[in-house]
Amino acid sequence: MRRALILLAAAGLGYGQPAPTAYIGAGGCNSSNCHGAAAELAPADSRIKGNEYATWASADKHARAYRVLAEARGKRMAEILKIADAGHDKRCVNCHVVGSPERSISDGVACEACHGPAEKWLGPHAVKNDKPQEVRHSENVAGGMIDTKNLQVRADTCLKCHLGDADHVVDHELIAAGHPDLAFEMETFTEAQPAHHRQKPAAMRLRAWAVGETVALTKAMGLIAMHAPRNWPEFSDMECYQCHHDLRSDSWRIARGYGSRKPGSLQLNSSRFEVVKALVAASAPEERGALDAALARLAANTMDAGATAQAAGAVEAIARRLTARFQTTDVDAAAVLRTVAANIQKIADDGVNAAEQATMTLDALGAAMGRNPDATKPLYDYLEHPSSYRPSEFASLYQKAAM
Ligand code: HEC
Ligand code: HEC
Ligand code: HEC
Ligand code: HEC
Repeated sequence: MRRALILLAAAGLGYGQPAPTAYIGAGGCNSSNCHGAAAELAPADSRIKGNEYATWASADKHARAYRVLAEARGKRMAEILKIADAGHDKRCVNCHVVGSPERSISDGVACEACHGPAEKWLGPHAVKNDKPQEVRHSENVAGGMIDTKNLQVRADTCLKCHLGDADHVVDHELIAAGHPDLAFEMETFTEAQPAHHRQKPAAMRLRAWAVGETVALTKAMGLIAMHAPRNWPEFSDMECYQCHHDLRSDSWRIARGYGSRKPGSLQLNSSRFEVVKALVAASAPEERGALDAALARLAANTMDAGATAQAAGAVEAIARRLTARFQTTDVDAAAVLRTVAANIQKIADDGVNAAEQATMTLDALGAAMGRNPDATKPLYDYLEHPSSYRPSEFASLYQKAAM
């Protein structure tokens, strides 16, 4: 007994607290009558596709997330950062190796990274019974399954790795060592993953887009409020190409001017809020005044860490309210796209990061509205070359794609 108490104390657990449940590993989901079918099952035969494992293993980059650590780019990063073994270092594995027991870490980001440790729910969720699906789902969630049907929970799950937080860090130090920049839009990335679930109704996909944006804003403001008192300015919170661009006498930045900012002061990465502003203008107009005022304070004070932290906190509070709202409210996609199109020159003037977010928005909303999915391709192609980016060129390509 004494020994057990000591062990519990060593694990940081108190009495009455449930022990953390363990990961089973992707192999545990791969039986042929569970998620290991070779091809997608017909909707009449099965609520789920059944071939989730095959989709993940062969088409989803998450299954490669451990392996990339040892490839050329990951290796060079580790050298620069003086990391001896990226495959076991917290700075990398917190995002690249999640959801497997130690012996199968080569699975990278496995099923349970997004669906939760399955030790307690694996057995019960695989047994057929007559309970309604919602009841079964909530029992699974009580057993530790992540409630990915809740859009806020889903967005929180993705963004923990695709934007970061205190325990999942891709800051400018990692980026300068070679890490890709983290840009994210939940619907576009779900399509790209590719999705291994049945297509959701359009209204749900539009809500997922909106909640993805508002949760990203909440988290981005949380990062700024965290960085400001400790390590300011943190360049990963800023527009990348204000620093990383060629100097030219025909500078579009000088032609554009600096608005209310002091010339040459730092500009935040406005991909985090420009699209949310359009969402609010179109679908939550009563929050518009508060959001615009808080964002204006944020933009005007980037050189003052204290004022930045305070303004970021104010934006974060509004973003939380917006998330609660769009969990349960439909989005008027056509109105959002009209608002983005009406402001596209201003968004383009903010630079490549904001232009990219507007592109992913057009992509996601357009897909849910049944538009031609190839329409955004010229925009993505254009953004591949940030050094030759010109806001007016991007804006006119956008107008064409949005027609
Ligand atoms: C906050 C989570 C997070 C952390 C921490 C993190 N990464 Fe990543 N990493 C990602 C995400 C997300 C991507 C995919 C980005 C994208 O394409 O949008 C990625 C992509 C990469 C890629 C490019 C992979 C490819 O397919 O081209 C490499 C290499 C990489 N990471 C290495 C590392 C190394 C090495 C570390 C530790 C020093 C690390 N990462 C830490 C989240 C993270
Ligand atoms: C990167 C995150 C992620 C990974 C990794 C992942 N999933 Fe998913 N999965 C999701 C999301 C998001 C959904 C859709 C949300 C929903 O409807 O629950 C989903 C949906 C599903 C569904 C349909 C659920 C339903 O009720 O319609 C099944 C089954 C599933 N996943 C199984 C798996 C299996 C098996 C693996 C590993 C081989 C896996 N997933 C890996 C994120 C992930
Ligand atoms: C545990 C961390 C983690 C979670 C949770 C996570 N991802 Fe990822 N994701 C990664 C890493 C790491 C990579 C890079 C893998 C690589 O390139 O090898 C990645 C890559 C991707 C890519 C490929 C990007 C590219 O450049 O091609 C997509 C798409 C993606 N994730 C979508 C999602 C979605 C959607 C969710 C939420 C449902 C999600 N991810 C949740 C860590 C995560
Ligand atoms: C305030 C200016 C500033 C901002 C903003 C900034 N960087 Fe940097 N970046 C630098 C400096 C300075 C270096 C170091 C250059 C050197 O040592 O030669 C650097 C280095 C890099 C490097 C490695 C060197 C190279 O040129 O390839 C990459 C990649 C990079 N940054 C990407 C980014 C990305 C992506 C963002 C946005 C998320 C960003 N930076 C934001 C100033 C900035």
